[in-house]
Amino acid sequence: MNQPVAEFANLHPDLRGVNPESYWLPFTPNRHFKASPHARTMVSASGPYYTNAIGNQLFDCLSGMWCSPLGHAHPKIVEAVTKQVSTLDYSPAFQCAAPSTLKLAERVAAMAPAGMDHVFFTSSGSEAVDTALKIAHAFHRCKGEATRFRMIGRERGYHGVGLGGISVGGIPANRKAFASLMINGVDHLPHTHNLGEMAFSKGQPSWGAHLADELERMVTLHDASSIAAVIVEPVQGSTGLLVPPVGYLKKLREICTKYGILLIFDEVITGFGRLGTNFAAQRFDVMPDMITFAKAVTNGVIPLGGVIVRKDIYDAFMHGPEFVIELFHGYTYSGHPMATGVGLATLDVMKEEGLIQASAALEPVLEEAIHSLRDLPDVIDIRNIGCAAAIDLKPIAGKPGLRATSVFEAGLQSNLLLRFTGDTIAMAPPFISSVKQVQHMVDSLRGLIVQTRP
Ligand SMILES: Cc1ncc(COP(=O)(O)O)c(C=O)c1O
Repeated sequence: MNQPVAEFANLHPDLRGVNPESYWLPFTPNRHFKASPHARTMVSASGPYYTNAIGNQLFDCLSGMWCSPLGHAHPKIVEAVTKQVSTLDYSPAFQCAAPSTLKLAERVAAMAPAGMDHVFFTSSGSEAVDTALKIAHAFHRCKGEATRFRMIGRERGYHGVGLGGISVGGIPANRKAFASLMINGVDHLPHTHNLGEMAFSKGQPSWGAHLADELERMVTLHDASSIAAVIVEPVQGSTGLLVPPVGYLKKLREICTKYGILLIFDEVITGFGRLGTNFAAQRFDVMPDMITFAKAVTNGVIPLGGVIVRKDIYDAFMHGPEFVIELFHGYTYSGHPMATGVGLATLDVMKEEGLIQASAALEPVLEEAIHSLRDLPDVIDIRNIGCAAAIDLKPIAGKPGLRATSVFEAGLQSNLLLRFTGDTIAMAPPFISSVKQVQHMVDSLRGLIVQTRP
């Protein structure tokens, strides 16, 4: 299967003379990649397909990394990039603004739950999370409650890689090397995944709402007067699509409201249609105080993230003389006009082509297709919600992650670009996918699981 690296530079004209050694890949076993970069190097993309350097056309099973639901090279987005770069390629983020940035803030606020009407832009989900944590902290200070500094995250949560995000995040491998850098006063709710109670659930599991009561225990332990915010992904994506039990998020909301704790939904993957609604907050009918977003807002074409906040949170900062900065926070690329220009085009396409409705329509198709894999002895759990699903493969004894790696690699040699974490394979196909393409994706996955059986 592996070709010598020397052949790599001859595979495609864009690779002529390229040596992959200089590149340090993120969240990737670098030596493994560099020993065999051929099939893992993507040279082009169009619609729901990538083409890799060995010439295979791969179905984009995770919409890039949850970020490209409109497929690749959409003509309206290509046009928006071209137009924006020749009109206003950059404008200073502090003390100035661009038309596309002002417009996108309005558009995002209009899509958010009622009352969430102010938007702070960042360039990534990680920055969005750290921004939301800082806003929560500073908000309580503005209100005269500076004793509220604790943040509550959740086990198995992923909130990016900033120091705030890894502190509230609950993935041990992302935390262990950086323990001494973490922010103070963070506690974690238990995660909600329990194979014994919910294996092969379709949509929301019925068991597990009581796990939200752990927040009451934390309030008793730490006292509400020390807790600033709770941050959760409504659906935990990066650790393999953990769907919230029925009633769980409502309970969290009630407890936060009772004690004056802010509730932050990290919607970096669920925002902009993945669950068939604008945001997960609307799907679950639970209104947080802040929403973090990124990824799909620009279809992944130009990095952009942000935080949507309730009006009274914004208003709490708007005191003192008008010429004084209210929040000492921001980035050179906050509200970058290229990113916000592409954001506007993305939201236009979503609306004009009815793609959030298309995402909703794919939910039963994906559900039926993915649960058909239940008969495979290698599959120990299947989960789905919205236009997303995950399967857990039975691990190879003593070699966690290797089973899913073999399926991923076989996909690259065939017709699927999959995404795996541990021995879980997650799928979140583009909203533009046809029913046939979704069914074919799952049928192909079945073949790969069988073909790579140890
Ligand atoms: C829920 C969630 N929050 C934050 C992030 C971090 O986003 P980024 O990689 O853009 O920094 C991610 C990325 O996958 C995510 O899924």
